[in-house]
Amino acid sequence: MTVFDLSLDELRLRKSLKWRTYPPDVLPVWVAEMDCRPAPVVAEALVAAAVAGDTGYPVGRSYEEAFAEYAAEVWDWTFDPVTQAIPVPDVMQGIVAVLDLLGERGAPVVINPPVYPQFYKYLEWAERPIIEVPQTGEGRIDLPGLAAAFAGERGARPEAYLLCNPQNPQGTAPTREELTEVARLAARHGVRIISDEIHAPLVSAPARHIPMLSVDGVRDAVIINSASKAWNLAGLKAAVAIGSPDIAERLTAMPDEVTHSISYLGVVTHVTALREGRAWLAEAMGEIEANRRLLSQLLAEHLPQVRYRPGVATYLAWLDCRELGLEDPGRMFLNRGRVALNNGRSFGTGGEGHVRMNLATNPEIIAEAVRRMAASLD
Ligand SMILES: Cc1ncc(COP(=O)(O)O)c(C=O)c1O
Repeated sequence: MTVFDLSLDELRLRKSLKWRTYPPDVLPVWVAEMDCRPAPVVAEALVAAAVAGDTGYPVGRSYEEAFAEYAAEVWDWTFDPVTQAIPVPDVMQGIVAVLDLLGERGAPVVINPPVYPQFYKYLEWAERPIIEVPQTGEGRIDLPGLAAAFAGERGARPEAYLLCNPQNPQGTAPTREELTEVARLAARHGVRIISDEIHAPLVSAPARHIPMLSVDGVRDAVIINSASKAWNLAGLKAAVAIGSPDIAERLTAMPDEVTHSISYLGVVTHVTALREGRAWLAEAMGEIEANRRLLSQLLAEHLPQVRYRPGVATYLAWLDCRELGLEDPGRMFLNRGRVALNNGRSFGTGGEGHVRMNLATNPEIIAEAVRRMAASLD
């Protein structure tokens, strides 16, 4: 038995977004849900709580404490779970709540497309104009571009920078040197950094995740993180916001309507995952790395015009289909190939001509997805 050996028949019984958005003849390899068996310790904790009727309200700081232990042991970075951290219902709501608490609606926010599409939607709902600083062709942060945007040369002066660390969709992980420069620029121009680190446990060695707050010179910054992506717990919502010492006190003034919205079963399962689910995650990561290699081989064989640079983080593959000369490859693969990928367009500037494939699945499903993509071109 492996983490990602569930069959298509078993997966089609699922009722979640990934498996119920498209008709049954479509193979879904899109949204960031994992087609995995759960970490046994996490499933046991969930079932035990449900069977005991232990399904009330959360109390205490166990989520912040479990994250602090994980950060110290895995990323070699310490923060104080009492004075620096607060619970938030999920990562995207946490981002908006922190922007609102510390800043003003109407003030611009910088992002680096192509990037997680919900950044656009949530910033729009939060009434935040967006300033785009597209990533370089290698999927890295464009530091001179960021400097120009922070200085107000790309529109109004921004209040905040919403960083995706590591980056969804390319799976790149910013280095300590890059983040040190980000911190320097932000401090110089008085820009607040909000670092979405939801994919952080999914960085493959020898690459390392660098928490934004662990970087020298960081001043006004907040990390939002959750165990939900790495352990496939999006349905059991819980997340944490961690402030730099300069602003932690302001962060801990977050109103109860936000901090009380974290789910009790989210806390139970995420804490178990962070403390006891690391061996499962290591196994899952090994299989994801094998799936990255498999995808490279399959593309070389069946779709050589599709460019793929395997990332070091996330289980997402960002596929450059521009050489195929299609107007909308995502739509073509869906309509003709009956395979649902994420359409690159939704990731903003630089997403045109790309699709995103989810590799947290059975290798047979990856092979079938590539077969369908190639067949749709015939
Ligand atoms: C970068 C990034 N941030 C946030 C989220 C969503 O997090 P949440 O469900 O906790 O809001 C995702 C989901 O895939 C993501 O990729």
